[in-house]
Amino acid sequence: MASESAESDSIFRADLLRGQVALITGGGSGIGLGVSELLASLGAHVVIASRKPEHFETARDALLAKGLSVSSVALDVRDQERVRAVVDDVAQTHGRLDLLVNNAAGNFYAPSATLSPNAWKAVLEIDLYGTFHCSQAVYQTMKSQGGGRIISTSMTLHYRGWPQMAHATAAKAGVDALTRTLAVEWAPDRIRVNAIAPGPIPTEGVRKAFTPPAESGIPDVFAAATERMESYARDRIPLGRWGTPRDIANMVAYLASPAGDWITGAIFVVDGGEWLAKG
Ligand code: COA
Repeated sequence: MASESAESDSIFRADLLRGQVALITGGGSGIGLGVSELLASLGAHVVIASRKPEHFETARDALLAKGLSVSSVALDVRDQERVRAVVDDVAQTHGRLDLLVNNAAGNFYAPSATLSPNAWKAVLEIDLYGTFHCSQAVYQTMKSQGGGRIISTSMTLHYRGWPQMAHATAAKAGVDALTRTLAVEWAPDRIRVNAIAPGPIPTEGVRKAFTPPAESGIPDVFAAATERMESYARDRIPLGRWGTPRDIANMVAYLASPAGDWITGAIFVVDGGEWLAKG
């Protein structure tokens, strides 16, 4: 299976996360797979949780074949009871749970005027409710073991207005608020809560989610990327290149490591400067 997180080497010490257990929602494809692979390669046991067996089983088998310590479980983060059962099972099986990465997301372009109640609900429930369900579920285990880390996926589109993304931008603004509030509320339990806002990373899932309808008039950055990858990055992304899953995974590893010990409630933009330069 071709991993979109390509590189197997890492700037981090190989045993940086040895003995730790990480639960990664949406960890079987795209950016999530890059995170799963890096954390496992740094010694963590990684539990990949996702909705689709073709994602979590394939990813698990590919990482196992590389000699990494990985397991997988079916999970829809919208289902609060199932989230609790999965978290309890991970904690019981491994005796601990050190890191939760709230990576699962569902986004698409759709005009606000005609967005159906179910479409609004689907995105809010995956991106925002799912992040809360998982964060709440890991709290007791992390508290009992003396601490833990929660890292959620945000975005930059809500820093300004972004047409046809009312549902996703509202959800991710909520993720930012949740991150800051949980960080303060759970700091006494030594649970650090942070978020990462990725820039454009052309994985298959992101391309699918962020390809605007032709009639919307919204620029299709990924079509532009296909046609003239290098010049688009040079013109629109100050650091001159597209992102990779590894760019996000590196920030997750940093925050998960002792280097992040005094960091909580922070939202890190990892986007090559893209949103600041956006016209
Ligand atoms: N435009 C408008 N409405 C859409 C839509 C789109 N592109 N995609 C889904 N919807 C609507 C559906 O029509 C449905 O509403 P309805 O019942 O009123 O018709 C509602 O959203 C739920 O869709 P459904 O496909 O039944 O839900 P799901 O839970 O299976 O799908 C989604 C989840 C909606 C997030 C789906 O887009 C998805 O799985 N996306 C891929 C993953 C992804 O986005 N990853 C993010 C990478 S950044």
